[in-house]
Amino acid sequence: MKVLNPIMMSGKKVLPLVEGGKGINGSDGKSAGAWAREGGIGTFSGISPDFYDENGNVVKETYEGKSRLEKHKEMIAQAIRGGIAQAKIAHQESQGNGRIHINMLWESGGAEEILHGVLDGAKKLVHGVTCGAGLPYKLGEIASKYEVYYYPIVSSARAFQILWKRAYSNFVDFFGGIVYEDPWLAGGHNGLTNAEDPKRPEDPYERILKVRKAMEKAGLSKDVPIIIAGGVWALKDWQDYIDNEELGNVAFQFGTRPMVTKESPVSEAFKKLLLTLKKGDVILQKFSPTGFFSSAIKNSFLEKLIRRTEEQVPFAKEKSDELDYEFKDGSKSYFIKSSDYQKAESQIRNGYNIIQTTPDNTLVFLNQQEADGIKEDRKNCVGCISACSFSSWTQYEGLTMKSPDPRSFCIHKTLYDLGHGGRLEDNLLFAGHQVYNFADDPLYKNGHIPTVKELVAKIKLGL
Ligand SMILES: Cc1cc2nc3c(=O)[nH]c(=O)nc-3n(C[C@H](O)[C@H](O)[C@H](O)COP(=O)(O)O)c2cc1C
Ligand code: SF4
Repeated sequence: MKVLNPIMMSGKKVLPLVEGGKGINGSDGKSAGAWAREGGIGTFSGISPDFYDENGNVVKETYEGKSRLEKHKEMIAQAIRGGIAQAKIAHQESQGNGRIHINMLWESGGAEEILHGVLDGAKKLVHGVTCGAGLPYKLGEIASKYEVYYYPIVSSARAFQILWKRAYSNFVDFFGGIVYEDPWLAGGHNGLTNAEDPKRPEDPYERILKVRKAMEKAGLSKDVPIIIAGGVWALKDWQDYIDNEELGNVAFQFGTRPMVTKESPVSEAFKKLLLTLKKGDVILQKFSPTGFFSSAIKNSFLEKLIRRTEEQVPFAKEKSDELDYEFKDGSKSYFIKSSDYQKAESQIRNGYNIIQTTPDNTLVFLNQQEADGIKEDRKNCVGCISACSFSSWTQYEGLTMKSPDPRSFCIHKTLYDLGHGGRLEDNLLFAGHQVYNFADDPLYKNGHIPTVKELVAKIKLGL
């Protein structure tokens, strides 16, 4: 295994090892501080981070506002409070070593306001911001204002080029580097676009090289790092990327692997589950209300959504040659294909007798519990993402005229619940596609849960 040489990141020479930010409560001040303490970079999540009362107990988010907009504002205020609390913990835990980053999802509701609030309230405690999901044009301007380095997360050279040309070329001083996240392998939301086939993963080397070439074309030196994320497990498999003149400085970001460490905030039950997974247990799908692809464990939560989507049938309000069968739902009438009649009827017979339309002109069939859940979740919406397909709320226009999509779900509810004691089978479990490595990796033998210190030591050995 090649020696990992420290490189300049966020204003300091650090080990090129980064803990990937994970919201909600997938990475926090404690885990980030532990990664920094080992000389690398720790990243706490800025999405609904926990904050504490005077006795140090977690204060669960509460909402008193009546309207979505009021709740949205409360959500932002609580996220700022939590972000500052996590920054302080991370700083303390780091003992002055390494660097601390905050992660924001650009398409999260109030992302700009939250970033301003946290960076303002946690001056000198946070050294960098990583930000993905969408094109975070304003990231450079916001980070530079607080003299904090910024790292857009992209999955292609093209995304970097767009961001650079339109925005970042004006904020060069605090441009920290690029996080290249493999859109086929990484846990959480994935940056697949229409240009990529979800079923045909591409070689990361060529894609990363393209990013480097685009960076050079933009005038950035090869010392500016590319942080490689997605599918990184043991560095013995990445030796060709280290000290590679063509690629320049690289660092490695781990998202899934740090979830099973003592300092990781995820529940013990989730850690145990991760140790048992097999190839194929994580699937790439498009149910997220952000509209992005994402990678998560196929559990009963996802199976419900899969069923709903697989069993949907196209419809029209008017009869056509193709949609020629009149299907009645009480006083409502839809035209579906005659060949879909059996499919629709059998769902109704099996208790999926509540019919809802989707924005793609299909009918989905829900049982009472599912329909009640959807209604309740929309009622409790706090505007956690800037444009939500599940509630059809946007932070710019409020409730839009678009039909809300029952094939999606409330991501805030499920991730918050999971991060605060919720049951694994009822919730979305983001994880990367290499999660099956836990089962065979000797580090986790007999259910061992390592500390971040142990994990970083193994990673440095290439294991
Ligand atoms: C549970 C989980 C939650 C995640 N949440 C976020 C997030 O909120 N923001 C983000 O930019 N990336 C998020 N990620 C991506 C990680 O930061 C990291 O880039 C990715 O997991 C790396 O790929 P790997 O899973 O193969 O290690 C998440 C990943 C996981 C597994
Ligand atoms: S419905 Fe849920 S996921 Fe959608 S914006 Fe509201 S809180 Fe967020």
